[in-house]
Parts: sequence; structure tokens; C-alpha cells
Amino acid sequence: MEKRVSADFQAIYGSKPQIKAFGPGRINLIGEHVDYNGGIVLPAAVDLGITFAISTAGDNFEFYSCDLQERVVISPEEIKPRKQNSWVNYFLGVIEEMTKRGHDVRPVKLAFGGNIPIGSGMSSSAALECGFGVAINEINDLGFDRKELAHIGQMAEHNFAGVKCGIMDQFASLFGKESSFIELDCLNLEHKYHPFISGEYQLLLIDTHVKHSLADSAYNERRDECEEGLRVLNRVYQKEHPELRHFSKEEIIDAKDALQDSTYNRILYVAEEIKRVGEASEMLDHGDIVGIGQLLYESHYGLKKKYEVSCSELDFLVDFAQSRKEIFGARMMGGGFGGCTINILNKENDGSWKEELNTLYFSAFNKEISVYEFEISNGATTTT
Ligand code: GLA
Repeated sequence: MEKRVSADFQAIYGSKPQIKAFGPGRINLIGEHVDYNGGIVLPAAVDLGITFAISTAGDNFEFYSCDLQERVVISPEEIKPRKQNSWVNYFLGVIEEMTKRGHDVRPVKLAFGGNIPIGSGMSSSAALECGFGVAINEINDLGFDRKELAHIGQMAEHNFAGVKCGIMDQFASLFGKESSFIELDCLNLEHKYHPFISGEYQLLLIDTHVKHSLADSAYNERRDECEEGLRVLNRVYQKEHPELRHFSKEEIIDAKDALQDSTYNRILYVAEEIKRVGEASEMLDHGDIVGIGQLLYESHYGLKKKYEVSCSELDFLVDFAQSRKEIFGARMMGGGFGGCTINILNKENDGSWKEELNTLYFSAFNKEISVYEFEISNGATTTT
């Protein structure tokens, strides 16, 4: 990947890049849709991601996508959101957020390419924002630390891509550590690492190859519902808590009558999921992978029934997992409405499940699954 991106850079710009960078994608073991509620999450960076070759430039920013073979040139005066779904938005968003923080972000030229499967839910957007963030930070000597870069990436996504995401993906892409999950407290960004000793187990992603076009608007809707729930709870308990995290499951249950049914279900899920993350972190330290597997099923059930961000393809994969003795746990991963499930398997499995699942999935949905292996890796890096 790095060779291809550097070769493309040289072919397009006629010189060698000054530096190279890598922004990793992420997985999330458990703790879904809780980051923007001040919850705790357990993500990790992976060895699939986006590679950059980059140099300082003249008057304009120049971007080249090796995968799409598209080149875009933008003057500093044109840094504003473009039409939705344009990959350039992630770069422009990062530049704008850095500029807003009072820095002089001088033009760069770059080429980039990735190996994160499109729509798989491993957050290629965070990989773009964070890989680009560390690269332009270094080349322009801007001095942002990694927490600032995570906020910059998150705000780029809010203001340029229109998704009101939490901080989990960017944090994982920047703070990942080899063979470890990050227990991230989204209230204060305190974090600690839990080594993942896979032993006789294996983590795999299974891709539904579904991406619902309304996923982004449904994501923002869920955020609004959680904010509504928080407003009601603050009113009922005469508090001014800034995040849902501050209310316990019991308090939510006691306030049921004051809440709309759907809002009640959403915020009850959030409280339950945060509790599960705490349990899973402890289990990680004790090597209780089977226990974690059980929590994954519970998490999926909550995401399907209470948070309502699953879809029939994801449910199908999780139901299948539950019927197989070599799979200890599975759930949808990421924002939902498509993408992948994360699965814990017995490493010694004979692989027959794959063929069987594919056949069943094909007859139900007329498409195939993909199975992805990965390594848990370090956060975004730059090299010369
Ligand atoms: C997306 C967002 C994250 C997080 C997850 C759901 O990946 O970018 O901030 O909210 O969905 O857990």
C-alpha cells in the first residue's frame, strides 16, 4: 500500500513525498452509541487503514485519491463543505478546524489510498481525518497533541460531513496500541489499555455488504432522542447533568412515565450498554472471553430491540453465530444499519461455518458475506 501511494504521488507531482503517514481504522469490542452520551467504550485500532504520501505545496491544496484516481485542487479561500459524500470534505474539515484554532495551515499536496473495505463500519472517515491530521500537523509544525487532533477530526465530521459523531473513532485511530483494547471514558477522555490475549480465541468481522443510505440521518436522530431523554431526566430529577451517563438505569426506569416509549428504550439501552462495557473490561483482564461473548449478544439484542439501529442482515449473522458452538459471541459493530458484525470464535474451528453461513446468507439476501481478519495495532503514525 505504502509503495503504491508513494509511486502515485511521484507520478502525479513529479517528486518524492516529504513524509508518509498511516491512519488506522478501528473496531469496537463493546460500547456502541454511548460515546456521545459520555459513556465508556472499548475500541482498538487495526492494521487496515489509509496511507498518505504528503509534501508542502505552493498556493493550493492538492489531493489525489489513488483508489478513485481523482485529483482535486482547492485554494485556501475555497475551504468550505462540498456536496455530501465527497471524500475531500474530510480533509477540508480538518484544515478548517485547525485554522479555527488559530493556526496557519499552509497548503500541502498529497496522495492517499486505503485497504478498509468500503462501508464495513471500520471508520474509514476517522482513518482519513486522523492520518491526515498527524501528517499535516507534522509537516506544518502545528504542535497539536493527539487529543486535540481527535477533537479536530470529530468536528470535521460534524461540520463538513454532517454526522454528529462521538469521539470514539478518532480517539481509537490516534491512541490505538498493539494487541490492546482502549477503555475510553468519553466524559473526560481518560483511558487505559487492556491487553487482549487472544489465546485459543479469534476475533473476526463479518460484512453484511449492506449500507443503508439513511444511516447518517438515523444516527443524528438517535443523538437527538438521547438529548431529549436527558432533558426529561434533568427536569424530572431537577438536575443539570450534561450527559446521559450521569443517570443510572434505576433512575431511568423510575422516570418511565415522563418519557415517550421510544425515548425510554433508547436511554435505557445506553445505561445498560455502559454497564456492559464495565463488565467486559474486567473480563478482559481475567481472560474471560466466553463471558465477553455473552455480553456481545446482549449488546446486539439491545441495539436491535431498544436502540433500533440493526437491520435484518445483521440480525441474521448474529442469529447464525448464536446457533454455532465455535462462535462465542457476536454483535453489530459501529453506527449500524449495515456494515459488519464483530465475532469471537474458537481459533481451532474447522472453518465449515463460513461456507454454511455464506450459503444461507445468499439464499436469504442474494448477496455474499465477506470475512475480515485483522491485527490490533498502534494509532496513526508518520514516517519519512
Ligand atoms: C459511529 C460514530 C461513533 C460512535 C459509533 C457508534 O462509528 O462515529 O462516534 O457513536 O458510530 O458507537
